Amino acid sequence: MMKKQIKRYAFLLLIVYGTNYGQTKKYLDPTKPIEERISLLMKEMTLEEKVGQMNQYNGSWDVTGPKPESGSNEEKYNNLKKGWVGSMLTVRGVKEVRAVQKIAVEETRLGIPLLFGFDVIHGYKTLSPIPLAEAASWDLEAIKNSASVAALEASASGLNWTFAPNVDISNDARWGRVMEGAGEDPYLGSKIAKARVKGFQGERFDHTKIIACAKHFAGYGFVEAGRDYNSVDMSNSKLYNTVLPPFKAASDAGIRTFMNSFNTLNGIPATGNVFLQRDILKGEWGFKGFVVSDWASIAEMITHGYAADGADAAKKAALAGSDMDMESNIYVTELAKLVKKGSVKESVIDDAVRRILRVKFELGLFDDPYKYCDEAREKSNIGSKANNDDVLDMAKKSIVLLKNDKNILPLKKSGAKIALIGALANDKNSPLGSWRIAADDNTAVSVLEGMQQYKNSALVYEKGTDVATNKQSFLDEVKVNTTDFSGFEAAKKAAKEAEIVVMVLGEIGFQSGEARSRTELGLPGNQQQLLEEIYKANPNIVLVLNNGRPLSIPWAAEHIPAIVEAWQLGTQSGNAIAQVLYGDYNPSGKLPMSFPRKVGQCPIYYNLYNTGRPTDKDNNVFWSHYSDVEKTPLYPFGYGLSYTSFDYKNLKISKASFQKGEKIEVSVDVTNTGNFDGKEIVQLYINDPVASIARPVKELKGFELVELKKGETKTVQFTLTNNELGFYDNNGKFLVESGQFNIMVGWNSNNGLNSKFELK
Ligand code: BGC
Repeated sequence: MMKKQIKRYAFLLLIVYGTNYGQTKKYLDPTKPIEERISLLMKEMTLEEKVGQMNQYNGSWDVTGPKPESGSNEEKYNNLKKGWVGSMLTVRGVKEVRAVQKIAVEETRLGIPLLFGFDVIHGYKTLSPIPLAEAASWDLEAIKNSASVAALEASASGLNWTFAPNVDISNDARWGRVMEGAGEDPYLGSKIAKARVKGFQGERFDHTKIIACAKHFAGYGFVEAGRDYNSVDMSNSKLYNTVLPPFKAASDAGIRTFMNSFNTLNGIPATGNVFLQRDILKGEWGFKGFVVSDWASIAEMITHGYAADGADAAKKAALAGSDMDMESNIYVTELAKLVKKGSVKESVIDDAVRRILRVKFELGLFDDPYKYCDEAREKSNIGSKANNDDVLDMAKKSIVLLKNDKNILPLKKSGAKIALIGALANDKNSPLGSWRIAADDNTAVSVLEGMQQYKNSALVYEKGTDVATNKQSFLDEVKVNTTDFSGFEAAKKAAKEAEIVVMVLGEIGFQSGEARSRTELGLPGNQQQLLEEIYKANPNIVLVLNNGRPLSIPWAAEHIPAIVEAWQLGTQSGNAIAQVLYGDYNPSGKLPMSFPRKVGQCPIYYNLYNTGRPTDKDNNVFWSHYSDVEKTPLYPFGYGLSYTSFDYKNLKISKASFQKGEKIEVSVDVTNTGNFDGKEIVQLYINDPVASIARPVKELKGFELVELKKGETKTVQFTLTNNELGFYDNNGKFLVESGQFNIMVGWNSNNGLNSKFELK
């Protein structure tokens, strides 16, 4: 390996640099330690070249076509040639990446290779379920594998950096970006963050692994009223206990980059936030990678009312530790001037550049800038059968069975007359979700196609109603159909003639995601009316939901006998849904977010605080509730059924009382009491009833996914340590306090066996 690298070094010296400049570029020597190589390179860099590394451009021109001759593209192109660009985003495909990399490596003075970033959020071309759906699997190995498939395809397309995972905790379904995260819980979110980082980055950067990016740092999931880009105000204790844990987990897992966020946090834009980026991330956590801004978030500090102009924004962002400017185009114009004026110390620039170069060296780009440019791999890896098998596996694991009265599911495999109704049942686009910029339109397997493979059932399809009236895209607002009912009659007739009706309803792919906040969480358009009409014709309905966020479906929950939460499941969506409906796969997913009864309950989450008046025990009016809807969610966090049933017994704690730091062993016996083999996600929650800062009524602190054959019992073990029992105060100090702890182990955040122990 080393020999090969040295040979390459000699070759590079000769061809790329030696011939041009006749001097030895010692930083190309792969035998030297990375920090030394960075220092050697930085010694040769001008201030402008350093600042250039902090500049990221969107490749908005046809990179393999003629060079741009005017406007901002010409400027970008010229700056690229000067070596004033550190990274590009959205340039993809081996031919394109190679062409741009060639300019950076062969035509600039120092030949520093570029990072190529892209939003590979849940797959590149072969798409996995949206991240919220994947989180419903609670299956960390599967989630890691899904990120690994995404990295395999993205890297085969020349990319070396993904802007994922999104580790924003959020408990507000109005916010469209909940589809990108892992839901409302920081413990589950942290485990998933780690799994995704490991999947994208692997243990070392071979050519199938890429740099990951934890985003959006921080607080973005708590934008007020769930309105995207809105402000965030929260206590430090909440920040440390709820928002930061998945970011910390990503940092501990060795993630190389962070992206900051659009929002202000307690009045200070995250992009200009010293406390977040310098004190916590680079200080307390010792993060050695770099921070990229979110799209134009440096310039947006002016609009926020936090910076006077471009120069002020550049200064504030750089001082706060935002190392790379995505698409504000401000660092490249302002930073060198600010250094020359003495407003920003060169050491600030040096620190940022060192961080960026470190990642490039670690990726091996100086040793082989075209490491990810392999046409043969691009052809064979992208869209392969193996990748499709993997995303199908992930899709099945992501499905949550919400209701199954009288065991209406699974469907009989033969003889049944089934009416399949709903525009989404025949939609090959929506299951791809909203972040699928590299996938081709209409490439998902639809539910109709999935069900048609079960040839012994008589299947009739009727659309019933359209969900949207316009052609949908990432850049367009969805127009919802509320007026066209013309398909209702045919759908009702089909329902009447069928034994069982499968209805696929919910959101189209672009109704959740960035800038897709909503104030209504019911079924969009006239789908609710369709559901109620069909119910009158035939109440034997299996409702399959396709959506990117929790929906509020109280009518369906009351009337419809079976409900399957199938999210937006990616390329293999229809196959996964059909296999679950026909019982070839027994669902085991559990909700990673609470489902509200009404939108007015948002934000709604299981790990809430008790308040001084939690129940109506003492007073039937003046307690903490709504007067027009129950206080509880429709479906709680952690909830999900199976075709089989599970019984919990013998909850045991190793002792009644423990010293701080001692390991607390908890066990429970779980039995499969039903008629199918199945999987159960066994969940452990704690509650600290008296603390120096009031603690939530419940907090997830452990989970295990167990597979049980019919009739089988397994003992599931958990270990609690100080890490699980403590919490952060408002100064970010981690406290473990003595006293009683209650625990609950069970099926979901609302049901389980209870016990307690003492911590001395
Ligand atoms: C989003 C980021 C994304 C970036 C680049 C922004 O609008 O907030 O999550 O990575 O665009 O596409």
